[in-house]
Amino acid sequence: MKKMNNKLLLASVILLAGFLHVGCSSAKMGSAASNTTVLNNNWKFSNTVNGDAYSNNFNDDAWQTVTVPHDWAIYGPFDKKWDMQKVAIVQNGETEASEKTGRTGALPHIGTGWYRNTFTLPQFKVGKKALLVFDGAMSEPQVYLNGKKIGQWGYGYSYFYIDITNDIIAGKENILAVKLTNKEYSSRWYPGAGLYRNVSIVVKEPESFEQWGTYITTPVITKSAATINIKAKATGNTIYMVTTIKDAKGKVVATGTTKDFATKGFEQNITVANPNLWSPETPYLYTATTQLFADSTLKDEEITKFGIREIKYEANKGFSLNGKITKFKGVCLHHDLGPLGTAVNKAAMRRQLTILKDLGCNAIRSSHNMPSFEQLELADEMGFMFLAESFDEWVKPKVENGYHRFFDEYAEKDLVNLIRATRNHPCIVMWSSGNEVPDQYGAEGIVRAKFLQDIFHREDPTRPVTVGMDQVKQTMQSGFGSVLDIPGLNYRVHLYEEAYKSFPQGFILGSETASTVSSRGIYKFPVVQAKEKQYDDLQCSSYDLEACSWSNVPDEDFVLQDDKPWVIGEFVWTGFDYLGEPTPYDEKWPSRSSYFGMADLAGIPKDRFYLYRSRWNKEAETLHILPHWNWEGREGQTTPVFVYTNYDSAELFVNGKSMGIQKKSNASPQNRYRLMWMDVKYEPGTLKVVALDKNGKAVAQEEVKTAGAPYKIVLNPDRETITADGEDISFITVSVVDKNGLPCPTATNQLDFTVTGAGTYRAACNGDATSLEIFHEPTMKLFSGKLVVLVKATDKPGDIKLEVKGDGLQSGVVNLKSKS
Ligand code: GAL
Repeated sequence: MKKMNNKLLLASVILLAGFLHVGCSSAKMGSAASNTTVLNNNWKFSNTVNGDAYSNNFNDDAWQTVTVPHDWAIYGPFDKKWDMQKVAIVQNGETEASEKTGRTGALPHIGTGWYRNTFTLPQFKVGKKALLVFDGAMSEPQVYLNGKKIGQWGYGYSYFYIDITNDIIAGKENILAVKLTNKEYSSRWYPGAGLYRNVSIVVKEPESFEQWGTYITTPVITKSAATINIKAKATGNTIYMVTTIKDAKGKVVATGTTKDFATKGFEQNITVANPNLWSPETPYLYTATTQLFADSTLKDEEITKFGIREIKYEANKGFSLNGKITKFKGVCLHHDLGPLGTAVNKAAMRRQLTILKDLGCNAIRSSHNMPSFEQLELADEMGFMFLAESFDEWVKPKVENGYHRFFDEYAEKDLVNLIRATRNHPCIVMWSSGNEVPDQYGAEGIVRAKFLQDIFHREDPTRPVTVGMDQVKQTMQSGFGSVLDIPGLNYRVHLYEEAYKSFPQGFILGSETASTVSSRGIYKFPVVQAKEKQYDDLQCSSYDLEACSWSNVPDEDFVLQDDKPWVIGEFVWTGFDYLGEPTPYDEKWPSRSSYFGMADLAGIPKDRFYLYRSRWNKEAETLHILPHWNWEGREGQTTPVFVYTNYDSAELFVNGKSMGIQKKSNASPQNRYRLMWMDVKYEPGTLKVVALDKNGKAVAQEEVKTAGAPYKIVLNPDRETITADGEDISFITVSVVDKNGLPCPTATNQLDFTVTGAGTYRAACNGDATSLEIFHEPTMKLFSGKLVVLVKATDKPGDIKLEVKGDGLQSGVVNLKSKS
């Protein structure tokens, strides 16, 4: 991308076909020459080894047998002693050091872990090539094959590969050993521990495509045709490349053959007629099969799903997708999956994205590191735009042992791998080189911003680069913000206007917004806006009026998003709660996970979810009442009622008595986006809200009722049929109801779980940020009347039964099926 140095230049058009790189298995493809083996099973693991365990003679019999992806720390126990940090969190405005107990999740991720895997690879023969690919390894992996060190990396979030052609032994057992080390004070959140993403081996012919060397763009898109530009790098003599493009139904729509192999690689331009464009609403994917031949023999093949779409960032107009101005209705996500920790699981990610679709969300920011390949594949398929981030630190530290230790040696390598491995995904519409890096200060910081951005431009000239900036004043003065393709503001709503005027780009991105805090189903009185508010129970109020000192409540962002065409969207902090960073209780044990999510750590929506849904989801009605109506002891006391709705006005009734009509107005940001009855006095019974259209006609209604004592357990699975692949998971929401079937919103019963048949109990989570119950034990307390149980398929198809019991309660049973 050319340097964009004024507002007009930012109108430069960015066209792209995204590409999903799929190594193909020769078994599946029949004739293909590349072969990818994922090393999932029969890993041996220990994190209590003193000394080295790489030798082939090392006896690992006593070690635990695990499957990878694996997160060794998620099994706990929670303890404040793990990674206790006595620090001042400078970026939070702290000046004095204090003890931070749950900052990295209070889980035992610090220390050294070893993984060993013994494998034979029949498809590897002398004369072939072999690559060992890590999708991520937490962290500082040292890699040994057959007793010899063959490679290492620094950053735990990076993808990397090692050429093992000369170290792997054909036809015999090989022993792979990986040593991982997590230092204390190396993270601001729970990073997980271990081989938490896939490890695989790719076997290739000497004539083959370079790993992550294929790059596809669509430089020209019209209604009647799209030009697909394919660049590929390959090694070998007398080779030529054939590409076949299929539509989503598998019909061949275009082909191309290139015989002129230049030193720089192959390049093809293939025309697809009447292209179906990719967008969040229509995530249409084509498939490209690129084949490499030498003397008519197929040597290598890559199968790639890709989309065709056009992105533009234009001064004063904003961002457009396929010619349509589009605002980012985005969420920031950390990489942990709550009770599964950081071990990648596609079912868990698909569930997250399903929940986010219902929210009306159209974009995700992988804060603050490289996303997993699985998440990008799902975003392509399900229709989410993606802001792929890389670093939380450059050279200046935020934490004592953070990424600054690696920057000089690895930053370029880390970015090159990120870009080459993922640049073909249509979902990615923007890169981020950093989040709130302290290098925003100082002249070297500007040089670094430019250095990193240039790497992105070199490897992928089709997408712009942002940095999430918190030092907005500083970056306006120093020129740091002007260097970036996209100025990203983290919070600082009061500076948007000034930043827009001061920066040359002609638009502003809310790269991180809100950081409002709440605990699902917990409400505090009196109902007032507050910053850093703390309560004795270490929870936050779900009236959604509490934020951090540096942040704000959602409505303040909404005003900017709605009134300023030059604000190109927002990425809310965060979609889901995550492990670690329990602000505002960083110093209060046992808080150990965040309160920022629109949904809790179990993935259950909090009230705030519906506030965003009422704006973002244009397809569905939102009419959500809060709080719950079980306030024994508050009779006669003021208990405000809020309604989050896409309707403009509504009337509220308490036990049939009207509390009046509320209409959205410009009196305050809250009045503009919420309907609020501030003076309601609590009396048990029924809260009813009736939504009204412009003529005052009732168009929809909702009720919340006071429930009696918990009586019966109710189970509600997200999917009743899952795949018998040993990985798929059904997420069952468990709640209790009273004798009349009314949900009990304050229930805290201890429940026990039993899974029988073709599935296993995997974990449970109740979303309580202060709970020390460990996820993989088959018992947990309800939090605000709910929790989620995760049941995992085995690799044998069959019936699965989950039974949930609790003292004095009628048990709940759900029958699931797993199919091959
Ligand atoms: C931001 C930061 C995030 C998270 C958030 C909490 O400043 O970028 O990683 O710490 O604050 O409000």
